[in-house]
Amino acid sequence: MHKLTVALDERSYPIFIGTDLLTQSELYNPYIRAKQICVVTNETVAPIYLERLKKSLTGFQVDVVILPDGEAHKNLQTLNEIFTGLLTARHNRTTTLIALGGGVVGDMTGFAAACYQRGVDFIQIPTTLLSMVDSSVGGKTGVNHALGKNMIGAFYQPRVVVADITLLKTLPVRELSAGLAEVIKYGLICDYDLFVWLEKNIELLMAGDETALAYAVLRSCENKANVVAQDEHEGGIRAILNFGHTFGHAIETAQGYGNWLHGEAVAAGMVMAADLSLRNGNIQKNEFERIISLLQKAKLPVRAPADMMPEQFMQLMGVDKKVLDGRLRLVLLEKMGKAIVTSDVDANLLSQTFAACRS
Ligand code: NAD
Ligand code: GLY
Repeated sequence: MHKLTVALDERSYPIFIGTDLLTQSELYNPYIRAKQICVVTNETVAPIYLERLKKSLTGFQVDVVILPDGEAHKNLQTLNEIFTGLLTARHNRTTTLIALGGGVVGDMTGFAAACYQRGVDFIQIPTTLLSMVDSSVGGKTGVNHALGKNMIGAFYQPRVVVADITLLKTLPVRELSAGLAEVIKYGLICDYDLFVWLEKNIELLMAGDETALAYAVLRSCENKANVVAQDEHEGGIRAILNFGHTFGHAIETAQGYGNWLHGEAVAAGMVMAADLSLRNGNIQKNEFERIISLLQKAKLPVRAPADMMPEQFMQLMGVDKKVLDGRLRLVLLEKMGKAIVTSDVDANLLSQTFAACRS
């Protein structure tokens, strides 16, 4: 088992990464403040893992909220189900929420914890690759609005993250691919050695090899923890973690939440950002082709939906949080393994990217 720390002074917390961790209650018990626990999960994950978790939570009042599954339910209405569950079972300010699920459950549980009685503790037990390598770490929590992805939320850190690689055994392969998109992202934005390792190990990862997956999770969490420790509230460097996301969020919103998986939209978005970086002269054609090839081996889309016109992208990207003072800000590659955030976006080159990247 590996232990990392997200170093945020009094809000610092550990990330445990390993196999068969779900039932190792000694990993999360020290972070449970009092007697009340509310496990938040969903209708897909609950039948597989809820009982195993509950068995190891002995000596507590354990209540459960089971949410409907899917990005389409990541909204204020579903969030209210968590508050109703907490209030019905009379949870007080010392309660601890446990998110058992992927990024949707994790983001909603974290936001509920941030709001309930003005803030209670929460623990992340991510069950998808994407949530292990990205969403469970760093404290971004929230829900979608019909007009924009993740537009309602809060920065609120968990007390501990327990990433049990064994849980990935039941994950559908399409979801595994979606998680790999975020791993590839770290390789591109800040860890070229990881990108090269991914090129060599992509087949093992796609086959669900636990050692390879554990390494990918460890390396991703190291990168994310390092960036978050420098810039918790995204005043600066943390924006690089949004590489591919400005385009990707536009795709997710336009296609209807849940039709394109978040990781799939990010993959197509990274191709668009890489295409613009190529047109800017920051990366070479053969490097661009290596990115496409790795994404394809991970069975991820490398083109935006055919029906998305440049005007729709621009309109949706205009409501994205990364717009500052009316100017579009994008995360591009300065070179392979290094990202930059820039407002200096050439409209002509951007049009060429839109045209080149549609399927
Ligand atoms: P998800 O939570 O929808 O999970 C994907 C699917 O896998 C769901 O159907 C889920 O029920 C199922 N599932 C989960 N664990 C399983 C398991 N072990 N076995 C079988 N099925 C399982 O999607 P996701 O990709 O985990 O997360 C995507 C969400 O994360 C998006 O809403 C995105 O905005 C958010 N996100 C947040 C951050 C952040 O920093 N907070 C970062 C990246 C993404
Ligand atoms: N997924 C982007 C971030 O956590 O900042």
